[in-house]
Amino acid sequence: MMMRLLNLPIVLCLPLFLFFCSCEESTDTPDDHSGLHPPPLDVHAQNQLIGRSINLGNCLEAPNEGDWGLVIQEDWFPIISDAGFTGIRVPVRWSAHAEVDSPYTIDPTFLQRVDWVMDQALKNDLAVVFNIHHYEEMFTDPVGERSRLLALWRQIATHYANASDSLIFELFNEPHDEFTAELWNAYLAEGIELIRGIDPRRTLMIGTAGWGGLSALDDLVLPADSNLIFTIHYYEPFHFTHQGAEWVDNADDWLGTAWTGSLPEKAAVEAHFEQIRQWAAVHDLPVHVGEFSAYHRADMDSRFHWTQWVVQVCEARDFSWAYWEFGSGFGAYDLEAGRWNELRHALIQP
Ligand code: BGC
Repeated sequence: MMMRLLNLPIVLCLPLFLFFCSCEESTDTPDDHSGLHPPPLDVHAQNQLIGRSINLGNCLEAPNEGDWGLVIQEDWFPIISDAGFTGIRVPVRWSAHAEVDSPYTIDPTFLQRVDWVMDQALKNDLAVVFNIHHYEEMFTDPVGERSRLLALWRQIATHYANASDSLIFELFNEPHDEFTAELWNAYLAEGIELIRGIDPRRTLMIGTAGWGGLSALDDLVLPADSNLIFTIHYYEPFHFTHQGAEWVDNADDWLGTAWTGSLPEKAAVEAHFEQIRQWAAVHDLPVHVGEFSAYHRADMDSRFHWTQWVVQVCEARDFSWAYWEFGSGFGAYDLEAGRWNELRHALIQP
């Protein structure tokens, strides 16, 4: 009798329990028996994750890591995180580590190296953006390279399909030359469809043709996808930011160009970012400024003021940003001295 009384509540609750079970079952997809669907990602919140980032430039986008003097070290990640950054952007030259003929397999050892970078970042509370950087063949023969690009996208999407939501994939860095806006729009649409078939959840990032800058903003045809971050690169005024840059023609002629933070100088920068904000608002896209910086041959005072102003103008518009770059010619960190230079506090206020 006692036993029966104790069981009474269970018996009464049973129909309720069965009701909840059947509700849950009816919302499941046929091949998902877990009943656990993570809520969809809010792309604006995703953009906050990479709010204040820095590029690990001149490392994995060199033909081979180390060719340009830098090999990513384990202690960089806590250094970056402790300074207040929330993410890293990692330019990657996949094309130098994949077969040139079908099936264009990516070298597994290289893939492991990229995995290691992601793991170190996540371990140090840094969100990560990987891209496809310096795929040089695309700029001379984009039609001939189309299948290879699609194969890279397929392999990368498959490999990272179960990775953390804090990993964001940027489809391509700075299309230019023969990789025209028209081709970029076509490949982009195809690429997003391909990636979504493999990984419907990953936040993706896309930018403009014409070197990823403002000039090609109106040429970009946006794929219908609610999990996209728009990225733009900003190096204006170019004669100031690229003075003395060895890879730019006549850049030595611009040495000595200062940026004093005068009202007209500030207004010019602000007008550019306002143009981006208005364009992005129309499309309801969060904005990431994936590269901006002034080369070390400009004077430090000017670099400091320009960098500080770009950050201020971005943050006033809720744009996330990634400074170009950590420890090389534009660097904010002095690897030889083992300390941040002045730019750290232009980026993140003390
Ligand atoms: C390029 C770098 C260059 C930087 C500034 C990046 O997108 O990959 O090689 O230093 O832009 O010009």
